[in-house]
Amino acid sequence: MTTEEDSTSKAPEHLEDLETTEDIKISHDPLERVVGQEEAVRLARLAASQKRHFLLVGPPGTGKSMIAQALSLHLEMPTEEIRVVHNPENPERPIVEVRNKAEVEKELETKGFAEGEFIDPKEAPVNVAERLGYRCANCGTYSSPRDGFCPKCSRTKAAQVKSTPNNPFGDLLGGLVEVTMGQLGGRDRVTTTRKRFGKEEVVVFERAGEMIKVLDQPALEKRRELERESPKKVIVPIGRKPFVLATGASEVELLGDVRHDPYGGHPQLGTQPYDRVVAGAVHSAHQGVLFVDELPHLGHLQRFILTAMQEKRFPIAGRNPQSAGASVRVDSVPCDFIFVGACNIQDLPHILSPLRSRINGGGYEVLVETVMPDTEHNRFRIAQFVAQEIVMDTRIPHMTRAAVQEIIEEAKKRAKAIDNKDKSLTLRLRELGGLVRAAGDVAVVEEAKLIEPRHIKDALKRARPVEEQIKERYGSYMAGVSTDVSTSEKESSPYHYWNYHVHDDKRGYS
Ligand SMILES: Nc1ncnc2c1ncn2[C@@H]1O[C@H](COP(=O)(O)OP(=O)(O)O)[C@@H](O)[C@H]1O
Ligand SMILES: [Mg+2]
Repeated sequence: MTTEEDSTSKAPEHLEDLETTEDIKISHDPLERVVGQEEAVRLARLAASQKRHFLLVGPPGTGKSMIAQALSLHLEMPTEEIRVVHNPENPERPIVEVRNKAEVEKELETKGFAEGEFIDPKEAPVNVAERLGYRCANCGTYSSPRDGFCPKCSRTKAAQVKSTPNNPFGDLLGGLVEVTMGQLGGRDRVTTTRKRFGKEEVVVFERAGEMIKVLDQPALEKRRELERESPKKVIVPIGRKPFVLATGASEVELLGDVRHDPYGGHPQLGTQPYDRVVAGAVHSAHQGVLFVDELPHLGHLQRFILTAMQEKRFPIAGRNPQSAGASVRVDSVPCDFIFVGACNIQDLPHILSPLRSRINGGGYEVLVETVMPDTEHNRFRIAQFVAQEIVMDTRIPHMTRAAVQEIIEEAKKRAKAIDNKDKSLTLRLRELGGLVRAAGDVAVVEEAKLIEPRHIKDALKRARPVEEQIKERYGSYMAGVSTDVSTSEKESSPYHYWNYHVHDDKRGYS
């Protein structure tokens, strides 16, 4: 694979210039990797740049999810972080806080500053290193403060306790009993003073794993300042992906929740309400794409999506009336997303109509293609698709040009067989991708360096749908069904209704 670093390098653009699929350049632009859906791709670009909602309609495996995801990669990275802040006046009404990137970065810097500086224990004053348990008071060997004994002289490091003037155990033990750092709990903090520019200032040394943390006066002040601020929780972080999949989401997943707390947010025992707030998909998609595949299956939840789209804000509340979270509510949590929905043609009438008209009025709808004309250019696009599938799979070798021709022949056959289109190539590419992988697996088993035409023929034989295999074995599909299911089982099977009635009866949707 070559990638398009510069457009001057000559990558082949015709099948006959191609030896194997390795010669094909794969675009950096994920929308350019979408084959044969020119109109949908054009509208996806518009939807991304103009922030419009988008509905993709068509059969499975034609690239709808791929387009939705590629669209999100054309958006700017999110610039806002959403937090929930403890409200001391009314803990059950935490306050939402939105901060932009610059503010988040500045805060991180302040926090880092307030966290002090880390130093090697050997750089700390000797008496500090001893009192924090890094240095053996006997032999001066440095070791981890977790070790109670000096690894060199085997004396307990706690001997140093005697030399700690204000340690209440110092006198008590009088050196008669040695205790380990662990038993004493050690000292994890030592406060001393130092002179700087002629002025005396307080310095705090703290144990921090294998390092020592030093907090000087400004750092200590910063820390005190931070401690005065109300505690908060980030519910939608700034470094998130701008693509959120909400297919088949539950109400809680879609809209967020306040988790239950058995202590009901008791000030000492419980977890404070702000800390139990969880964002929903609509919030996580803020400044990005909210993608819902099989949109009608969301049922009544579609109404909430509509509200969120209109308001660009959606409150987070506890959604389980039995839970202690039910009394908690955060208002006006931002959710400014681009909505991308997908569904097949039959399901179109089951999209909530105001949602449909909202997309229509402020966005685009597109019917994806199932075939494309059999032209030289489109044949090359199939080769490009094959190359993409191979690279994505990572476990199969590249394909020879002759084998690509076989795939193109199959694409032509399928356009005729499934969509009854002559002189066309199928765009039901998920299934065609299955054929590429199956052929690749045959080649791998053979330890072949490349996928050859014979691997594809072999895979075609193996990759037949099970219905076809049944037909071959039992004469007809229905004959196969009756050998498999007794009459009573037929009626009680949970899938019976869907398998046998769904095409002529839409009861299940109402
Ligand atoms: N138009 C296309 N161009 C390139 N690859 C495609 C296309 N359509 C489908 N594919 C391949 O099939 C896979 C599944 O497609 P997907 O986008 O999930 O289809 P849909 O959402 O329409 O069911 C994709 O990840 C991609 O590998
Ligand atoms: Mg899909």
